[in-house]
Amino acid sequence: MSASLSRSVTKVTTHVLQEMKLKGEKIAMLTSYDYSMARIIDKAGIDIILVGDSASNVMAGHATTLPITLDQMIYHASSVVRGVSRALVVVDLPFGTYQGNSKKALQSAIRIMKESGADAVKLEGGREIADSVERILSAGIPVMGHLGLTPQSIHKFGTYVVRATRKDEAERLITDAHTLETAGCFAIVLEKIPAKLAGQVASELKIPLIGIGAGAGVDGQVLVIHDMLGINQEFSPRFLRRYHNLYAEITGSVQSYINDIKNLDFPNEREQY
Ligand code: KIV
Repeated sequence: MSASLSRSVTKVTTHVLQEMKLKGEKIAMLTSYDYSMARIIDKAGIDIILVGDSASNVMAGHATTLPITLDQMIYHASSVVRGVSRALVVVDLPFGTYQGNSKKALQSAIRIMKESGADAVKLEGGREIADSVERILSAGIPVMGHLGLTPQSIHKFGTYVVRATRKDEAERLITDAHTLETAGCFAIVLEKIPAKLAGQVASELKIPLIGIGAGAGVDGQVLVIHDMLGINQEFSPRFLRRYHNLYAEITGSVQSYINDIKNLDFPNEREQY
C-alpha cells in the first residue's frame, strides 16, 4: 500500500474510496454544515464531508433529526460545497423527502445535487429504500446507505441503544447491507452496532463501510464535528473520542472578551483609528 492514496488525489471520488478499501487505507469522514468549518476540515485532509441531518440537532437545537427540511439541507450543503475543493461532499436526504416513494426520492436528490453542487446523497434504511437507491442512481447520482441506528426512525424504535444485538436483527442488517450493495450504493454508514457484526459486514461487502460506534473492523470512521471538537457537553456515548474541549475554550475566550470590555482594556490605542 502506498503511504496514502487519498492524499495523492486532488479530489476524492467514489472511485478513490473504492480503491482505498481495496488497498486497506482507512477512510476519514466528518460532518460539517457551514462554509468556514468545511474549509478548515477540507484543508486538513478529511476524505468525506457529510452534510448530515444532525444539523437539525447541533445547528438548530432540535431534539431529533426529523424537523429539518430539504430547503434547509440545501442551504447547509451549498455553504459547505463553497468551502471544499478536495473532499467528497455527501448530503443527507432529510426525513419525509424519500421514504415510501422512489420518484419523490429522485426529485429530492436532484434538488440537492442541482442546488448545492454536492457529490452524493445519503439515505437511511435497507430493503425498503432499495428501489429509491436504484432510481436515484439511474439519474447518475451516487448514493451512500445508512444502517443500524437510523435516527430518522427514532420514534419507531423509541431509544438510541445499540442496534442489531439480537440474532434476527443482525441477520436482517447483513441482508440489508447486501441489498444496498446490489442496488448500487457506493458506501454504507453503520451506526451503533456490535463491532464483530460490523467487521463481518465489512469483510463480506466490496463497497466501503464507514462506522460510527461500529468498532475498528470497518473501512472508515465518521463523527459529528461538534461532538469530536467538544462543543457538545451533554452527548457522551462510549464511541465518541473528544479531540478538543471547544466548549471550555469558547467560554474562556468570551469571558476574557467581556472582562476586557468591562475593564476598559479593549479596544486599546492600537485597536482604534
Ligand atoms: O446526520 C449525521 O450526522 C449522520 C452521521 C451520524 C453518520 O448521519
